[in-house]
Amino acid sequence: MHKNSLKVAVTGGAGQIAYSLLFRIASGEVFGKDQPILLHILEVPEAFGALEGIVMELEDCSYPLLKQIKIGTDPCELFEDIDFAILVGSKPRGPGMERKELLAENGKIFVTQGKALNSAKKHVKVFVVGNPCNTNCLIAMHHAHTIPKENFFAMTRLDENRARAQLAKKAHVNVTDIHRVCIWGNHSSTQVPDYYNAKINNSPISHIIQDQKWLKDQFIPLIQKRGAQVIAARGKSSAASAANAIIDSLKSLLNPTPLQDIYSVGIFSKNNPYGISEELIFSFPCRTTLQGHIEIVKDFTIDKELRELIHLTEKELLEEKHLIHHLL
Ligand code: NAD
Ligand code: LMR
Repeated sequence: MHKNSLKVAVTGGAGQIAYSLLFRIASGEVFGKDQPILLHILEVPEAFGALEGIVMELEDCSYPLLKQIKIGTDPCELFEDIDFAILVGSKPRGPGMERKELLAENGKIFVTQGKALNSAKKHVKVFVVGNPCNTNCLIAMHHAHTIPKENFFAMTRLDENRARAQLAKKAHVNVTDIHRVCIWGNHSSTQVPDYYNAKINNSPISHIIQDQKWLKDQFIPLIQKRGAQVIAARGKSSAASAANAIIDSLKSLLNPTPLQDIYSVGIFSKNNPYGISEELIFSFPCRTTLQGHIEIVKDFTIDKELRELIHLTEKELLEEKHLIHHLL
C-alpha cells in the first residue's frame, strides 16, 4: 500500500510549532504536489488527547496527498522505515532563560530518539528543532550509529530569516533582494549573523547600508536576542515563524540552491573549510547541488572581527558538548 509514499515523522505533535507545521507538510508544500505522504506523529502520553484532536483536524482538511496518519508514544515504533524525522518535541525555554539551560531536561529525549532512529531508512534526513538544537542534534547523531552523520541538521533558518527581514527593512528593499546571509555557529545568543558576506543584489551590504554602527551594535544583538524578545512579548516562544523556518529549511535541503545564494543550517562540522572544531553541529553557509548533495560553501571571507565572533559561538558549543558528555 502507498508504495511511493514518503514517511515523515514529526515529534511534539500537540505542541505550538507542530500546530503550524503539520498542516503545511500535509498540504504538499514541502515534498511536492504529487508526493503522497504518511505522517508519523510522536507525543508524550499526557498530550495524546490533544494530538487526537489534531489528527481529526488533519483529516478534516481532506488533503489529497495525506495517505495515512499514525500516532504514538514510542519512537522505536514511529521511526521505523521513515524517510524524514523532524524532531520538535521538547520543552521550550521561559522568560529570562538561555536555551542551553534546557539541556538537562531535553538532552535525554535525544538519546532515546537517536537510538530509535536506527530503525529508520538509511537515507533518513534528521532535522532537529527542539532546543538547544545544535547540541540535541549532536546527541541524536551520536546514538543513531547506523545513519550517516551528514544526514543530521539543526535549525538556524529562523535566525537567517530574521536577519534577512531586518536587513531588507533597513535598506528599504525586498527580502528577495538579500542574499548570502549566514548564521554561524550555535542557535543561541552567541550566534553570528554575518552581514559582512551578505549582499543586496550584487553589492556588499555595507555599500547599501552605510550605517556601520547600526550593523555592528544593533543588527547583531537584535538577531541574537530576537527569540528572547518574542518570549518576553508573547509569554511563549516563537511558533508560526519557527514552523515557517522548518518548511524553508526542508525545501532548501531538498532543492538545488540558486547560484547567488546559500542557506544556513547546523551541520556536522567534520572536515569543514573554516577551521572550526570537528565533531560539533555548527551552522555554516550551505548549498544543495543539482545532484542533491548538501555542502558547506567555501568562499566566505572571515576577517579578524568575524573570526573573533565565530570563536565565541564555537566555544559555547564546546562547553555545551562538555555539559552533556555523560549522554554520549
Ligand atoms: P510546546 O511546548 O508547545 O510543544 C512541545 C511538544 O513536545 C509538547 O506537546 C510536548 O508534549 C511534546 N514533547 C515533549 N517531550 C516529548 C518527547 N519526548 N517526545 C515527543 N513529544 C514530546 O513547544 P514548542 O513551542 O512547539 O517548541 C518545541 C521546541 O522547539 C522547544 O524546545 C523550543 O525551544 C524549540 N524551538 C526551536 C527553534 C529553533 O529555531 N531551533 C524555534 C522555536 C522553538
Ligand atoms: C527562537 O529562536 O525563537 C526559539 O529558539 C525559541 C527560543 O527559545 O528563543
